[in-house]
Amino acid sequence: MKGVVLHGGKGTRLRPLTHTGPKQLIKVGGKPISQWGIENLVKHGVTDIAIVLGENNPEKVIDYYGDGTEFSANFTYIYQGEARGLAEAIYRCKDFVGNDRFIVHLGDNIVQHGLELLVNTKDEAAVLLAKVTDPSRYGVAEVNRDRIVRLVEKPKEFVSDLALVGVYSFSSTIFDIIEGLKPSRRGELEITEAIQKVIESGDTVGFAVVDGWWKDTGTPDDMLSANMRILDFSTDYKIHGSVENANIEGRVYLGRNSKIVGSTVRGPAYIGEDTLVENSFVGSYMSIGNGCRISDTEISNSLVFDNSKIRDCKLTDSIIGYNCNIEKNRKKPEGSRLITGEGSSVSI
Ligand code: TTP
Repeated sequence: MKGVVLHGGKGTRLRPLTHTGPKQLIKVGGKPISQWGIENLVKHGVTDIAIVLGENNPEKVIDYYGDGTEFSANFTYIYQGEARGLAEAIYRCKDFVGNDRFIVHLGDNIVQHGLELLVNTKDEAAVLLAKVTDPSRYGVAEVNRDRIVRLVEKPKEFVSDLALVGVYSFSSTIFDIIEGLKPSRRGELEITEAIQKVIESGDTVGFAVVDGWWKDTGTPDDMLSANMRILDFSTDYKIHGSVENANIEGRVYLGRNSKIVGSTVRGPAYIGEDTLVENSFVGSYMSIGNGCRISDTEISNSLVFDNSKIRDCKLTDSIIGYNCNIEKNRKKPEGSRLITGEGSSVSI
């Protein structure tokens, strides 16, 4: 069984966070989103993995993941370049897959359950489905008892509330089917269309309905809800750093060489390495990266990427990128001073 992790796409809806790297590398709970998926594959015995790269800083993905040794896996990098659809990205892995079966994992999706079905299935294709409240945003499956009857991409009228989760299992026959696809209206080769053709050819498409799925639909709010989910289900809470005159409430991870001084940190919260939290209230649902400094600040339900400094602020529901400097404006008149790059979205 091989694995294919899709790391391409444009990530336009997450600009400006994606101006300097792909969204799948954004760290939530101390790890890039794609690493949660990759670790899940490895845990299920899928260690021979192709990582498909897009146009957005692909070298950063290779830099981070290397040859896979550090992740108990063996990585092969395949360039897709421009995003021409999931099926096109998968087709580029034809030689890598050969005659094996394989699992495709979107690099920005996280599933808590269900991978065992995809690893053990004998069906030509198998998918995971999850109940959603807004099916018109997804590819959905119409199900009749234990069979998938039809797949519909972003249905305008109600067909089913079971959406396709971004993790699939295929046999190598899927490549012949993709060869016969034509670009959709949005100019992409659609994987839902390929799976629909498997159904039409009379083969069974296996499925399981799962809960505990997070799909990044590309917005900062989705990123914050992913942070919540991950901090909720993560079990790796340890204090490696030091705590002085501080309260640690609930489940908190504190990385090596990090210090919490004169502060309260309320879990669940993740604080990386070499980070200082002083005279502050942090949490709950915080992911703070490495090399950060949080002083005289109250912050909750937010992501702070590596090497950022926040001083004398009250923040919530925020995402602070790499190497940022955020501080209260002490000049008169009182007000907020903003310097925002193209495509920024700010609420104050
Ligand atoms: P999307 O979220 O559908 O697309 P996107 O990343 O381009 O985002 P946006 O719409 O904000 O510009 O992609 C789903 C996942 O599949 C994501 O992990 C990126 C990956 N992907 C590829 O690797 N190649 C592709 O051609 C496409 C369309 C997506």
